[in-house]
Amino acid sequence: VTIRRVDYTPPAFAIDKVELEFDLAPLTTTVTNRMQLRRAPGASARDLVLHGEDLELVRAEIDGKPWTGVQVSTDGLTVSNVPEQPFELTLVTTNRPSANTSLSGLYVSNHNFFTQCEAEGFRRITYFLDRPDVMTTYTVTLRASRADYPVLLSNGNLVETGELPDGRHFARWHDPFPKPSYLFALVAGKLVAREQRIRIRSGEEKLLQVWVEPHDLPKTEYAMQSLVHSIEWDEERFGLPLDLERFMIVAVGDFNMGAMENKGLNIFNTKYVLADAETATDIDFSGIEAVVGHEYFHNWTGNRVTCRDWFQLSLKEGLTVFRDQEFSADMAAAGGSPEAAAAARAARRIDDVRGLRQNQFAEDAGPMAHPVRPDSYVEINNFYTMTVYEKGAEVVRMYQTLFGRDGFRKGMDLYFARHDGQAVTCDDFRAAMADANQRDLTQFERWYSQAGTPHVSATAQYDAAARTFDITLTQGYGPASADAKATQKGPLLIPFAIGLVGSDGKDLPLRLAQDGQVLAEPQTTRVLELTETEQTFRFVDVAEEPLPSLLRNFSAPVIVSYDYTDAQLTFLFAHDSDPFNRWEAGQRLATRALLSLADAAARGDALSLDPEIVAAFGRVLRDSTLAPAFRELALTLPSESYLAEQIEEADPAAVHAARLFFRRALANGLRDDLMAAYEQNRVEGLYEPSAVDAGRRGLKNVALSYLADLDDPDDAAELARAQYDSADNMTERSAALVTLLQIGPSAARAPLDDFYLRFEKEALALDKWFGMQATRRGAPGERVLDDVGALMAHPAFSLKNPNRARALIFQFCMGNAAQFHATDGSGYAFWAEQVLALDAINPQVASRLARSLERWRKFTPALREKMRAALERVAAGVQSKDVREVVEKALAP
Ligand code: ARG
Ligand code: ZN
Repeated sequence: VTIRRVDYTPPAFAIDKVELEFDLAPLTTTVTNRMQLRRAPGASARDLVLHGEDLELVRAEIDGKPWTGVQVSTDGLTVSNVPEQPFELTLVTTNRPSANTSLSGLYVSNHNFFTQCEAEGFRRITYFLDRPDVMTTYTVTLRASRADYPVLLSNGNLVETGELPDGRHFARWHDPFPKPSYLFALVAGKLVAREQRIRIRSGEEKLLQVWVEPHDLPKTEYAMQSLVHSIEWDEERFGLPLDLERFMIVAVGDFNMGAMENKGLNIFNTKYVLADAETATDIDFSGIEAVVGHEYFHNWTGNRVTCRDWFQLSLKEGLTVFRDQEFSADMAAAGGSPEAAAAARAARRIDDVRGLRQNQFAEDAGPMAHPVRPDSYVEINNFYTMTVYEKGAEVVRMYQTLFGRDGFRKGMDLYFARHDGQAVTCDDFRAAMADANQRDLTQFERWYSQAGTPHVSATAQYDAAARTFDITLTQGYGPASADAKATQKGPLLIPFAIGLVGSDGKDLPLRLAQDGQVLAEPQTTRVLELTETEQTFRFVDVAEEPLPSLLRNFSAPVIVSYDYTDAQLTFLFAHDSDPFNRWEAGQRLATRALLSLADAAARGDALSLDPEIVAAFGRVLRDSTLAPAFRELALTLPSESYLAEQIEEADPAAVHAARLFFRRALANGLRDDLMAAYEQNRVEGLYEPSAVDAGRRGLKNVALSYLADLDDPDDAAELARAQYDSADNMTERSAALVTLLQIGPSAARAPLDDFYLRFEKEALALDKWFGMQATRRGAPGERVLDDVGALMAHPAFSLKNPNRARALIFQFCMGNAAQFHATDGSGYAFWAEQVLALDAINPQVASRLARSLERWRKFTPALREKMRAALERVAAGVQSKDVREVVEKALAP
């Protein structure tokens, strides 16, 4: 069944409050649910229809008397002829936590209980109005064996604890804030907490806890520190305080996603909580900071103000991703000089945009394309997407680009003044931004309703005599699915930041002619507002023909085309004052070369690369005025999957050959510079996950990886082996091992075994061990899939643990393009088998994997046919609506 946004109707009943009692046991848990219900004003329904899944109904009572008018179905419960007046409905149900492998609802992980209710997991716990616009206050009593479950947690404040007969005990929690059911959580088990007390600006003291299994306690310091920073940051930047007496984070090893913002009781994948120097990389540390921030920020953007319905998901997710991006950028920039701060900020921005372009742009061009606010879905869990999250964050960022930080803050203040405690829509957020800044944002609505990535093409005209520079911008969309096309109704309001670069490499002053006036800009970057399909902007008094620097800092999530020559790109790569566009110039230069190399490789022609391009990368590599983090990003080529996406009929083997050729050309051409970068960026002293140290390690390790692509990789092998042996942190150790794997399996054999023995008991480190073998390049003719197959049989492998499945299977299918797309179709057959196996265990995880074939039409005919066969095989055997939606949309004509 397809659920449509236009079919929204308000709930017929309201729940004034709910009391839940849990008798927790792994095989069968009993839930007693007592709800105070009333008809919504104006509603007249005689029957009450509740959601419910995989529940056993034991008893139903209304106002304390058994009620026989109940009808159970596969997706809920209908209670007929309920009283006109407010009434109390009591429902007793059981569910089976240890048999729940979907990790949605109440489940068991390593003998402890956890819940995941977003989006529709609460209905697997009890019958309920499981929709985000039904908000109520919860009182929750947990009862369980004290020996097995000494810790009992739920949302809000702890009001009572005590003993019960037979070695059982209880805890009662009350959450004073009304919330939708998707924010409910409970945790029970053998856990310990790192605690910290902080005083917020109001003077109130708050208790912070990070709960983990006892042996993991030493790995919680960074998460706690990130939580403290998040709380301080949200007060400082947005005036938003922590509103509960205590705030808890709990880590769980079996989790479908990254983390969940349950009110006062965030539940996290261990990957985003646990870290120490030995087991976590710089990237892991920064992921923890970002996700801790993200979930904490949801307390206001998501929890205090929530979504009316799931079509509005980006209301909370786009906004909260934007907030976590800003937080991470501020944290990276903190404490450094203004130049260092700007560089650190730029590195974060580049990273975020790279992710967006690599994954969201592909989504927007494929069969699952949908607007930031989708119009329909079959399974809502399939819409926790890059579009809703990352493109949604770009849409929020555009308000800030248009109105500035202060204007954005005014809009946020108005949003909370209007909507605190409510379940609202993306339109309400846009209205707050518009009203606070006295702007008509009607046209901006199209960012929410149109699917597909907008294209902006630019042409420029310099008139030397008149000293004018005209830039004409044209907007439209590229090829898209029929569904996506149908949403594309008209031009968008695109904030288009531009600078004009002079022949000395410095920015020229900007004087924009507009409505018969000349606007002299104090800054050398101006945000043009493109609102028409085609629009020309005139700069006057332009002393020389400039080189335009377009879409600075990626001011809108669009694809820009402009006819730059290689020499112009080289110039911008060396000089653009906008660090994002400086990086972008290098990427454009590389992408263009890589695509023509791929073309040549596909035709079987000899490959060659212009030495000027190698030289351009060499100059950036050697430029010690540039932050190492920036140089690392500049040296990182677009991925094979991103490149394939740029080609009409992609041949992954040709793309692979092209990228390898380019890397070898850089390695051979810049050998001494790479060696110098390696030596100069060693970080001495105690490991610290700071942005500066991480940047140096990043540059050093990217240099090492290039050196391993020299015709003679012996020096690189020696460096990598020494680095592996002397490493005192995971960043250095894993980078060394990945480089050895790149050189070849025999070079990596001994350290790979060492790594396993060293981290046998460290689940997250072991995930890396699986992952690096799955993403290994493989020699010509070698099948990495054979290793993957063997690793599936390894005693440490389990399909039931999402992190492990992602480490091995997803990494192979999504992170090793050349091997996955092997011409014999073996990768696709493996994919089909694993999607079906996962489908029976965990539909959400299966569905994510299913999506890795959705771009099948982009490939060469031979591959395409094999992919279609694999998709059809899955379509024939699928059980869940999650996977069915994905494969059916992929196969639709
Ligand atoms: N709201 C969570 C976050 O972004 C994600 C939960 C998604 N869960 C799901 N089953 N789709 O922070
Ligand atoms: Zn979120």
